[in-house]
Amino acid sequence: MELDIENINMDKLQVAANMIKAGGLVAFPTETVYGLGASALDDDAVQSIFKAKGRPSDNPLIVHISDMGMLNDIAAEVPEIALRLAEKFWPGPLTLVFKKSAAIPAVITAGLDTVAVRMPSHPVALGLIMLCGVPVAAPSANISGKPSPTSAQHVISDLSGKIDAIINAGSSEVGVESTVLDITVSPPVILRPGGITHAQISGVMGQVEVDPALLNMPNVDIKPKSPGMKYTHYSPKGDVFVIEGELSRVVEKIRELSAYYKAQGMAVGILATDETSSFYVASTDDVISMGSRANPATIAANLFSALREFDAKNAQVILAEAVDSTGIGLAIMNRLNKAAGYNIINA
Ligand code: TXA
Ligand code: MG
Repeated sequence: MELDIENINMDKLQVAANMIKAGGLVAFPTETVYGLGASALDDDAVQSIFKAKGRPSDNPLIVHISDMGMLNDIAAEVPEIALRLAEKFWPGPLTLVFKKSAAIPAVITAGLDTVAVRMPSHPVALGLIMLCGVPVAAPSANISGKPSPTSAQHVISDLSGKIDAIINAGSSEVGVESTVLDITVSPPVILRPGGITHAQISGVMGQVEVDPALLNMPNVDIKPKSPGMKYTHYSPKGDVFVIEGELSRVVEKIRELSAYYKAQGMAVGILATDETSSFYVASTDDVISMGSRANPATIAANLFSALREFDAKNAQVILAEAVDSTGIGLAIMNRLNKAAGYNIINA
């Protein structure tokens, strides 16, 4: 279903809402990534989300709302800090973890006593939830383990034939998923870095911790608190390596590794940045710029589609430049390191 974000056809959107109300699965655009929606109050429909994605049942879903009234039915209690955060960042790319109410089926929360809630800012997402009249459970609309979809085309390539409808309203603006913030603990903890940065959140509420597992391989000592953070994720078919260090050395190392793998007859892709891509042009390398280091939001916006593009090109080895992990960079490096299965090379 094609929708124009500037002029949304509400009759068409109602058709999609009716599908969700009838227990169906509808992929829809949000400002972060495309989501795969079902009625959050329908056990069987939520069950079918897990089936379509091949998602492990111990990984809970985010419940999406279109107004604050819906929150009261979902959260057992809404602390004052939640209202302040919502005031500042909703609608938008922030997910808050609350104590759950009895109305939310256990299948959504994977048996946890907490529930993750977000009010997206994309007008199609907001309109869809409003027309459904119920909260909408929605994970990213990809096959589990693949990069999240930032276009309807990405959803089609992963889920075509497995779901009832896909609403196409163009590319997602933010490009990485929402920040997940657990406010059931004190001080609150960022479980997943995303579209809203640590600095933005601390600006509203003072002390905020960051789950130490965010940039490192989960191990026995550091267990991620957000169940989803422990799985292989964002992985294209090729082997991804992240190269970090001083930028000129990173470029040098990538050129060296590229030559090495190509000598073995492998198809190599390079994930560069606007500032560095010309350094690889002399060779026959397949180079995609993720965006500009001077404007890391552009890198966030392109990251997943770049990874998927290398899949389409059958890249066997993908060499990715690390970027500064401050601000939105923390979300970018969290996704890149996971895509690489923590194969991180220091140049
Ligand atoms: O931007 C987004 O958040 C997108 C769009 C569609 O809204 N959704 C998304 O959903 O990324 P998903 O399912 O791909 O990721 C949800 C993350 C997972 O890491 C999951 O473990 C975590 O949120 N999560 C969900 N419920 C939780 C809970 N009760 N406690 C802690 N983490 C939770
Ligand atoms: Mg996901």
